Amino acid sequence: MERFEVTGGARLEGEVRVHGAKNSILKLMAAALLAPGEHRLGNVPAIADVTIMSELLVRLGCHVTHDEKALTLTLDVPSKLEHRADYDLVRKMRASINVLGPLLTRTGRAEVALPGGDAIGSRGLDFHIKGLELLGADVANEHGYIIATVNGRLRGAAIELEFPSVGATENLLTAAVLARGETIIDNAAREPDIVDLGIYLQKMGADISGLGTSTITVNGVEALRPADHDALPDRIVTGTWAFAAAMTRGDITIHNANPEHLEIPLEKLVLSGAVVTTIPGGLRVRMDHRPKAIDAMTLPYPGFPTDLQPMIVALNAIAEGSALVTENVFEGRFMFINELVRLGADITTDGHHAFVKGREVLSSAPVAATDIRAGAALVLAALVCDGTTIIEDVYHVDRGYPKFEEQLRALGATIERI
Ligand code: UD1
Repeated sequence: MERFEVTGGARLEGEVRVHGAKNSILKLMAAALLAPGEHRLGNVPAIADVTIMSELLVRLGCHVTHDEKALTLTLDVPSKLEHRADYDLVRKMRASINVLGPLLTRTGRAEVALPGGDAIGSRGLDFHIKGLELLGADVANEHGYIIATVNGRLRGAAIELEFPSVGATENLLTAAVLARGETIIDNAAREPDIVDLGIYLQKMGADISGLGTSTITVNGVEALRPADHDALPDRIVTGTWAFAAAMTRGDITIHNANPEHLEIPLEKLVLSGAVVTTIPGGLRVRMDHRPKAIDAMTLPYPGFPTDLQPMIVALNAIAEGSALVTENVFEGRFMFINELVRLGADITTDGHHAFVKGREVLSSAPVAATDIRAGAALVLAALVCDGTTIIEDVYHVDRGYPKFEEQLRALGATIERI
């Protein structure tokens, strides 16, 4: 098991470059299944989740090549696909569930293992299933697998999501593009990842309108063709660097980033005392003094992202004053707080509220990453500890942060992978 050894105290200064968004790339890869032929995805970094999704696509019959230097992923999709996503891959990466919609609409049958629980909460699939049923599929839960079948083509339907779920919106969108007739997804998720997926589908020949709004309309087409597409920059990785600058009283210029996708988190950083400047193709975040504590509540986009909640809790843990952070998206997402408390943070939780009292400095201790974003937040916390912190289970961080420790070292951090 690999771990990070981080010695706190450095002010992070310098430049970083952000790659394509993990949460977009994985969905683009699954959507490629919709059109036989050769697709090329750009801006794809070498992260563990891309390797897992590649393995899944290979099992489904695709040929996948990743040129890690050029950041290009070439996907050759066969005209006849397998239709089973096994548990060993789905349990490693829940985004595997995104093959459900494309496989069903392409082959008339999809068997996808139920992902089971994970460290941020229960994460149901009921919206995915109800939506697919409205599109005419039969869906059963057998021996740990969701088995979705349809005789002939899916048919367009009006679907209203109970909650603007990112995964359900994506699965239903990718199922509807080849269905017969019109599908309307109401209360759809508006995340930039959904827009990116929709643009890729449009390049493939799909007829979609309303991307980025709460109502997405799809007119099914007979067939799609392969397409090339560059994934949008990762807003959560961008946000992680922005919080790293603020927490270490540093100065980081972040290239290949889109600050428009981070309006609320950046407003919070400004309230905390940071100077945020937009530059062509990115932004610069500087903090000259101890951050001030700031309240936040997570909400679907454009609200404060749940994926940056661990970072704002970590920032408040060393801020001047106290703040209330409310988690509205995933009920189990405060689990990492026990690890922050091991670093001396003063945090009390009550249900989905965390009350954080800032401390001048945190106190190094051995901790463990519980999920990808919690892991990244623990690294940021370790950077402001008074000694050397060991962070176990860094494979979580490797799922979405390419060469994290190398980038941190280039900014002046003392961090080793052991
Ligand atoms: C995606 C992101 C994740 C991010 C989340 C919210 C990927 C790979 N992951 O996860 O990083 O934190 O969006 O921005 O893109 N729900 C149900 N039933 C369903 C579907 C969802 O109850 O059928 C609930 C979930 O348990 C959760 C909430 O809806 O409480 C939001 O989940 P959702 O938006 O679907 O998140 P994911 O797509 O799983």
